Amino acid sequence: MKDNFIQVADITDIDLNQSVSVEVGGKAILICNTENGVFAVEDRCTHTDIPLCGGQIVGNLISCPVHGAVFDLSDGSVQAPPAFEDLETFEVKIEDTSISVKYLK
Ligand code: FES
Repeated sequence: MKDNFIQVADITDIDLNQSVSVEVGGKAILICNTENGVFAVEDRCTHTDIPLCGGQIVGNLISCPVHGAVFDLSDGSVQAPPAFEDLETFEVKIEDTSISVKYLK
């Protein structure tokens, strides 16, 4: 397996505390612009496999828009139920305003 970074978005296109969903290698990844930096997590709430896109972001935390589970975007950890499984996270690289995520090929 080889590590790769792929350019997925531009920081100027994502307002603070907003997110965009991108697809990398057939997987939906949520790119989140927070006051603590840019984070990338799988765009799939582990509660019932519904996209997290559109969830409210406060600091490092995102709330699922469906039932309100809360995840820490910095490490994917669950912070509040009804989800119990952590999110997959992806390493982010920023060059100028360009955002890339690391994925395995
Ligand atoms: S689908 Fe996210 S908390 Fe239920």
